[in-house]
Amino acid sequence: MNIEKGFKFIDLFCGIGGFHQAMTDLGGECVYACDIDADCRKTYERNYGIVPDGDITKVDAKDIPPHDVLCGGFPCQAFSKAGKRLGFADETKGTLFFDICRILKYHQPRYALLENVRNLATHDHGNTWKVIHDSLVELGYNVIDEPVIFSPHYIGVPQHRERVFIMCVRKDVGELPEFYFDINKIPQCSVEDILLNDNEIPNLDKYKLTVDQIEWIDNWNVFIQNIKCDKLPGFPVWADCLCPFEENPYYETFNEQPKWLQNFVVKNNELWNNNKDFLATWLPKARKNKLFFGAKAKLEWQAGNGNNPNIWDNIMQIRPSGLRVKSGTYFPALVAITQTSIVGKRKRFITPRECARLQSFPDSFEYDSKESQAYKQFGNSINVGLVNFFARFMFGDKELREKYSKSNKF
Ligand SMILES: C[S@@+](CC[C@H](N)C(=O)[O-])C[C@H]1O[C@@H](n2cnc3c(N)ncnc32)[C@H](O)[C@@H]1O
Repeated sequence: MNIEKGFKFIDLFCGIGGFHQAMTDLGGECVYACDIDADCRKTYERNYGIVPDGDITKVDAKDIPPHDVLCGGFPCQAFSKAGKRLGFADETKGTLFFDICRILKYHQPRYALLENVRNLATHDHGNTWKVIHDSLVELGYNVIDEPVIFSPHYIGVPQHRERVFIMCVRKDVGELPEFYFDINKIPQCSVEDILLNDNEIPNLDKYKLTVDQIEWIDNWNVFIQNIKCDKLPGFPVWADCLCPFEENPYYETFNEQPKWLQNFVVKNNELWNNNKDFLATWLPKARKNKLFFGAKAKLEWQAGNGNNPNIWDNIMQIRPSGLRVKSGTYFPALVAITQTSIVGKRKRFITPRECARLQSFPDSFEYDSKESQAYKQFGNSINVGLVNFFARFMFGDKELREKYSKSNKF
């Protein structure tokens, strides 16, 4: 690789240190970190012995030590003047990307590795990406033209978390080849890879589903095992709309409802018409469970159409839109809000340690003792394995560059 051990990096918007973990694993030394969130700063200090600065907008670039690599998983904000080609200073002003640019401009590090949500690739009809790309090029960096969208499950980590990765190599330092991979050739992954054995989990009961929750999910299991339709419903099932059309809660206002909602109501009504006998006994029983109302009376089945479906084979999330069920090979993206995944096979929620593993933090990582904070911080952080992966590609790791190039057709 074209970087020596002991290279210096800075960790902007550091969170709990996903970049830090990977860059030190690659032999780097962190010379500066910052995050506006005080709880993240505490977790960072506990693990890495560095007290991060606060708000980056208040930091003068000259107060940041010289470095070889700038890292930053920056919050995504719109660019008000996107697309007008005024140069980055005008176009990015008022966004946190501007702060990255001014630090890059002042220090001109050899490399920068940035990360953002998937939506960045398409935001504002592609203008946001264009401003970002062109600004980095204008600052003297080689950057791949198209946004690179990648997820931990593409390298065998069982989390589906598509993010945009932006590798920047200063023009005089070297080339940055196109990045290529074949989605049909990604490795199999298994949730078992990150799960702890139940007997290894302190306070296991805290994570176990309650008797009522198990009964509630069991009811939905009976539903998917008995419902007759061509394939299991790909649309959201809304128990309140499993009834004769004139009894659905939107009947009076149907024509005023948006098209998507009308569509769901019609589909649920068809389901009712084709399964009246079963639903006439299932619904009253399901409603006896005290959780079966509001969002919990909705099901989003996204686990395919295998034979003999069993809800408990899957990963579930309790979302405002319903109980979402996904097939059990990988977890949906950890998120900062409380939608902690349920591991069907274990009849329990995933633990913070398992969230740490989903983000590829080592088991020695000490997370926030307040668990709601720990879940939030892991939901916001970056997958350590992917930082390692893209850093190596960016630094010129021969094997990776060959494997992920068009000529290799991986
Ligand atoms: C997507 S998270 C990055 C997480 C990080 N990569 C990790 O591995 O944990 C974005 C972070 O930017 C921080 N942030 C937002 N505004 C900031 C500002 N003005 N200055 C410094 N940090 C800021 C947030 O507190 C949040 O932790």
